[in-house]
Amino acid sequence: MCGIVGYVGDGKASDFLIEGLRRLEYRGYDSSGIAVFENGKIEIKKKQGRLINLENLIKEMPVSGHIGIGHTRWATHGKPSDINAHPHGDSHNRFVVVHNGIIENYMELKKKLIQKGHTFKSETDTEVVAHLAEDLDDGDFLSTIKKVLSVIDGSYSLVFMDAEQPDTLICTKKDNPLIIGLGEKENFIASDIPAVINYTRRIYILNDGEIAVVKKDSVHVYDADGLPVSKKVQEITWSAEAAEKNGYPHFMMKEIYEQPKAIYDTIHIHLTKDGEVKFDNLNWTKNSLESIDNILITACGTAYHAGLVAKHYIEQFTKIPVQVEIASEYRYSKPLTTARTLCIVVSQSGETIDTLAALKEAKRLGAQSIAITNSIGSSIARESDAAIYTLAGPEIAVASTKAYTTQLVILLLLSLYMGQLKETISKELVHHMVEEFKVLPKQIEKVLTENKHMEKVAQRFIQAEDIFYLGRSIDYAIAMEGALKLKEISYIHAEAYAAGELKHGTLALITPDTPIIAVATQEEVMAKMYSNIEEVRARGAEVLGIGYDDDAELEKYTTEIVKIPRVDEFISPILSVIPMQLLAYYTGIKKGNDVDKPRNLAKSVTVE
Ligand code: M6R
Repeated sequence: MCGIVGYVGDGKASDFLIEGLRRLEYRGYDSSGIAVFENGKIEIKKKQGRLINLENLIKEMPVSGHIGIGHTRWATHGKPSDINAHPHGDSHNRFVVVHNGIIENYMELKKKLIQKGHTFKSETDTEVVAHLAEDLDDGDFLSTIKKVLSVIDGSYSLVFMDAEQPDTLICTKKDNPLIIGLGEKENFIASDIPAVINYTRRIYILNDGEIAVVKKDSVHVYDADGLPVSKKVQEITWSAEAAEKNGYPHFMMKEIYEQPKAIYDTIHIHLTKDGEVKFDNLNWTKNSLESIDNILITACGTAYHAGLVAKHYIEQFTKIPVQVEIASEYRYSKPLTTARTLCIVVSQSGETIDTLAALKEAKRLGAQSIAITNSIGSSIARESDAAIYTLAGPEIAVASTKAYTTQLVILLLLSLYMGQLKETISKELVHHMVEEFKVLPKQIEKVLTENKHMEKVAQRFIQAEDIFYLGRSIDYAIAMEGALKLKEISYIHAEAYAAGELKHGTLALITPDTPIIAVATQEEVMAKMYSNIEEVRARGAEVLGIGYDDDAELEKYTTEIVKIPRVDEFISPILSVIPMQLLAYYTGIKKGNDVDKPRNLAKSVTVE
């Protein structure tokens, strides 16, 4: 989604602005721009397409001022174009703004402004904000911006410049992230930490409604009532290299290979010396868990697929019924959530607006809430009663890989923890699972040795127009994630199906040209799965099985198999998804796609 940067200091603003925007490229964008104050006015440069287009423009017409703002846009209102790119200014470029989010009442505001004589250049909702500042200007930058905020509705992070006050940036946020990087004789603003990491490790994380007045020597933050806020400086602990490719050709590949470490980091802080599971920040007791009648898991995309797996975990270990809802549907489903519901939201970024909105709705209905997220201090983490972190490190590729497997790990640990507290599972089961967890990173390393094998399979699959992913029980949930991964990276149509359901209609689509991926790790449904594989083979389809290395039977039914080590069936999803990640990666590469930034997609989706 859109990326935002701002700079004020002794340095050349455009240097940081371009570097910061480059570091935010992973968010996905279609145009970019900067605004810099020089020669007594605000100069705006913007360009459709990749950042390189903007860089070329700046090379031709350099800007050397010391204060500025920048933006990478992901179109919501108005097509990608030079004119619709941010920054946007008012009639005289006195107030200039960059924005991430949506101004929901922009139409009615725009109408009123046009009646007052304002002329708009772009089709964006954002331009209204700059014109509003011009309209409401009372001579005081901060007070003017407060007036603007009092009339706009929607979600936003905003950074403003005022040509009459060329030493100051003002920024604010609601439901969209914004941080301030603190430097020596310079300060930075960004929508995400990677933008500032090469410049400073000390940051403020802005909360909803806070307004920051940022100058080169000072940062003053005020709450929504205008009262000064004493912000805590947060230290960034992860390294700059963690946000780089580290020698891998793509972030996606790097992140697939980081899974053993990400999983080790995520697991080990939740294991006790006695072979039990702990969550230090949850003050749950047997009694408090008795008060939960049902669990709602809500999330989007890959995180939703993690929720589908978790339903199996939680129901088996706690006997509490679990409902898994796509976040963008939940709010409109007239939910039956009550104060006896525990709502678990799952989100890598912690900023997905659909998930945030679902969480707010569940809370409004009285639910208790927990966030599982990879993003410390994110909106979703802060909105929830408690946050549990996946320690995957920054995930840059749009396609989620290590975030997904660490989500599965946390959800499995959490289910065991609940079962342990409720005494709905035996101590022996917990000990057994803890032992499985301890060897999991090594097992993942073994699965990663299927790399070359998956590259060869990808070579055959690039010809396919449709690919079906089949599974039963937990394997069906994993098949859904496999299919999503292939679609987003390779642009090949892929569909996951509950293997037993295929014969009720969709089997009509299966031909010798329709490759099948069959995930078969769940003993209880294994015989049935073999029959379902027979059904598609009988229609001439090639079947790639994903199963245990000691399952000689699966080999007989399929054309070819990808082997994962024999592990507990609750752990197997964490392994069986990895060959599917690799397959998606290589299929995308062989089709010449930009696998880290697939078309039409953004890493962090902060619009509904
Ligand atoms: O940041 P989140 O986990 O909330 O993102 C949710 C989805 O947008 C995300 O999982 C998406 O489906 C993945 N990029 C797919 O790989």
